[in-house]
Amino acid sequence: MAIDGVNGPVNTGRRRFLTATTAVVGAVGAGIAAVPFIKSWNPSARAKLAGAPVTADISGLQEGQRLILEWRGQPIWIVKRSKAVLDALPTLDANLRDPQSENLDQQPAYIKGETRSLKPEISVLVGLCTHLGCSPEMAAEIKPEPYDPNWKGGYFCPCHKSRFDMAGRVFQGVPAPTNLVVPPHYYENDTTIVVGLDPQGA
Ligand code: FES
Repeated sequence: MAIDGVNGPVNTGRRRFLTATTAVVGAVGAGIAAVPFIKSWNPSARAKLAGAPVTADISGLQEGQRLILEWRGQPIWIVKRSKAVLDALPTLDANLRDPQSENLDQQPAYIKGETRSLKPEISVLVGLCTHLGCSPEMAAEIKPEPYDPNWKGGYFCPCHKSRFDMAGRVFQGVPAPTNLVVPPHYYENDTTIVVGLDPQGA
């Protein structure tokens, strides 16, 4: 398990996801703590390269926290959103390129609407900017940010200043053309997510 930082100073360098890790990220405030309760059952390195699904226990994930997995060499973010963040999503629609996720390349057909998720409070995203593939920073708190005085929480890509909301929906007027990708996934039970496979019957 590795710990990644968020909400730190803007890094103008290009940041790519390079390591095969499982990480939990504290999203709120300056505190970043290891959260030892996260369990994941990842396949072997060879199976991962072949695209094998990965499974994670999210029973201990707290609001504002992000669990980072790797699937097909990409970072997969699993984020627990607060009610305040969910309530703010519809208020952003007019400022977004694709608020209703109509571009079907960016998520499976069973992922719809403003939350872009199977369960409203849990967001699952590929953590790569849709501009040139940097890894955006998470800024999950609803508070003014230097790049947006009306920030309702979301993701900021320091490479060329693209912004996404907490559903991974891209704002208008930024270089990234599309929403962040939602990978195929389903819930094996209430607290276990499988990333890399569609729900049965989907
Ligand atoms: S790579 Fe994210 S804005 Fe360019």
